Amino acid sequence: MKFFSTLRSVLRFRKFETDPVARRLQSVASVSDLRNISKRRLPGGVFDYIDGAAEDEVTLRRNSEAYNAVEFRPRVFRDVSNISVASSLLGKPLSFPLVLAPTGFGRIAHSQGELAVARAAERANIPYTLSTLGTRSIEDIAEVSNGRKWFQVYVWRDRELVKEMLERASASDYEAIAITVDTAVLGRRERDVRQGFTLPPKIGLGTIWDGILHPGWTWDFVNAEPISFANVRGKSVGDGSDPVSLAGYINSQFDPSLSWSDIEWFRSIWKGPIVIKGIQTVEDARIASEMDLEAIALSNHGGRQLDGAPAPFELLESVAQAVGGEIEIICDGGVRRGSDIAKAISLGADACMAGRAYLYGLGAAGEKGVDFVLEHLKEGLVRTMALTGAASLEELSGDLVRIRDK
Ligand code: FNR
Ligand code: LAC
Repeated sequence: MKFFSTLRSVLRFRKFETDPVARRLQSVASVSDLRNISKRRLPGGVFDYIDGAAEDEVTLRRNSEAYNAVEFRPRVFRDVSNISVASSLLGKPLSFPLVLAPTGFGRIAHSQGELAVARAAERANIPYTLSTLGTRSIEDIAEVSNGRKWFQVYVWRDRELVKEMLERASASDYEAIAITVDTAVLGRRERDVRQGFTLPPKIGLGTIWDGILHPGWTWDFVNAEPISFANVRGKSVGDGSDPVSLAGYINSQFDPSLSWSDIEWFRSIWKGPIVIKGIQTVEDARIASEMDLEAIALSNHGGRQLDGAPAPFELLESVAQAVGGEIEIICDGGVRRGSDIAKAISLGADACMAGRAYLYGLGAAGEKGVDFVLEHLKEGLVRTMALTGAASLEELSGDLVRIRDK
């Protein structure tokens, strides 16, 4: 009978995937899909801490919109049979021009937290930056990763503590430090204010209900050891074993008097490369370059600090014109696709940094989710290059992009 033979010819059942996480990932196509799954799986306060930003979140939106406002000028009839995205940063190779941004409190997204992210970065052969406020320590990360490791520095009022952390990072083979300079005080994240969010998340009546509604996350959270600021465990500054509001903690512990003159102090302790994360003007990019720092990350902290700060991607071209070639330029914030990386490289970045993209992967599917994101971004970069006629990163030039006419 035709009916059965036709049916047989078109029926294809996907092999049943027994691993629930892999099964979840089968229907994921983009970072935005992972964000949606994270939104479903994580308690509201946790998702909002990751996803949210300062005040009206204007800068958060602009960070991504800036990429969308630029379109390609694809060239055709170019040989793109061999595309290379291999690159170098701070004098060492990386498989494609991306660095994983430091994000605090990784273990609220998934119990493996920063360990999962560091392992995925090593597999992808790109650098991983551990936050000062990580929930895994400098040493914990070194134990699971022989890959390129950077340490992000928040400067405590207690300088001895900073010195000690830098010495530990050096002893654990971290290659660079990234000093974050956009956090003199904490930005006002109004989603966190509304939620009364603390770190670690407090279990109260509201959160118990939230926990019941998010059983996957809750099971994972309560079966892991308690969360603390692993880098300062047991220190007098408080290690988060008691819930704290982030604003209260940062505003009392971090040093708002930090200035360019402190670079000398850092140089006296840290012998490796120094990246300044949080540059937001051409003037400051120039100062960093004149001070012979190794790299800058144009960044507004993913819109979480000063609402109304410029989108790094919009700053990029003028900064590259001013200091490109003298200091390495990393473009941080708003990266959700490989095509965003292609656009940033075209306008003069040496690499991009991304934070939320991998956190959405971590929240949605743990370590496999992070692997997914890193592959997705790399593949997206390769595909974009094939479609724009660029076979190497050097061929990604300003000629290949333009601001879209409104
Ligand atoms: C961050 N970011 C950040 N930066 C930093 O220097 N130290 C830190 O501890 C943190 N913590 C942190 C937590 C969370 C949940 C997020 C989302 C971000 C900022 C981060 O390094 C990076 O600048 C932004 O994430 C970049 O924007 P995208 O990629 O998230 O759009
Ligand atoms: C944040 C801090 C940890 O952005 O930098 O939440």
